[in-house]
Amino acid sequence: MRYLKGCNCSLLQVSECYIISIESIIIPLFAAFWLMLPAYVPNPVAAATGGGTPIDGCRTWRDGKRILGDGKTWRGLAIGILAGILVGLVQIFLQGRFGWAGIPQHTFLSVILFSAGALLGDIAKSFFKRRLGKDRGASWPGADQYDLVAGAFLLAIVFDFPWFVSVITLPIFVIILIMTPLLHKAANLIGYAIGVKEVPW
Ligand code: CTP
Ligand code: MG
Repeated sequence: MRYLKGCNCSLLQVSECYIISIESIIIPLFAAFWLMLPAYVPNPVAAATGGGTPIDGCRTWRDGKRILGDGKTWRGLAIGILAGILVGLVQIFLQGRFGWAGIPQHTFLSVILFSAGALLGDIAKSFFKRRLGKDRGASWPGADQYDLVAGAFLLAIVFDFPWFVSVITLPIFVIILIMTPLLHKAANLIGYAIGVKEVPW
C-alpha cells in the first residue's frame, strides 16, 4: 500500500506500482523460505526415515525419566541432516547458475549449520520436554514450532556470525517467525495423513 500511496497515478502507473508492491512482498517471502529450506527439510525427513537405536541409548536422567526418549534416533538424525545438506547443495548450485538478485546466498558452511542446527534444536527441545514430564509426542506449543529455528540460528551465530548477520535482516526474521509455524502445521498434517507422524502436531 505504501507504494500505491507514493504514486500520483494514472491507471497504468497504478498497475505498475501494484506490480512493484507484489514483488516487494514475494521476494522477501521467497528469500526467507530459501534461507530456511536446509533447516526445514531435516525434521520431516527424520520423521519419515527415523527409528532404530535411540540417541540416548534408552538411558534415563536423574529424574528417572528418559534423557531424550524413543522419538530421537541416530538414523533420523543422520538421514535428516544429510537430506538438509543435500537440498542446500542443490540450492548453492542453483544460486551459482541463476544468481538471483536480492535473494540471500547459502554457503556450504551455512547449509551444514542450518541442517544440523535444526535437528540439534529438536533434540534439545526433547531433552527439556522430558524434564517437564511431557511424554514422547506430547505437544509443547511454541517449542515444537521454533526449536529448529533456535537451533539453526544458534549454530550459525556461533560458527558463522558474519554470514548470519548479512542474511538475517529484521524483515526476514519476522517472516521466518510467521512462516515457520504455518509450514510446521502443514508438514505435520501431511505427515499424520500419510502415517509417518503418530500425532498431527
Ligand atoms: N525422529 C527420529 N530421530 C530424530 C528426530 C525425529 O527418529 N532425531 C523421528 C521419530 O520417529 C519421531 C518422529 O521423527 O517420533 C517425529 O519427530 P518429533 O515430533 O520431533 O518427535 P516426537 O515423537 O514428537 O518426540 P518428542 O516428544 O521427543 O519431540
Ligand atoms: Mg513431536
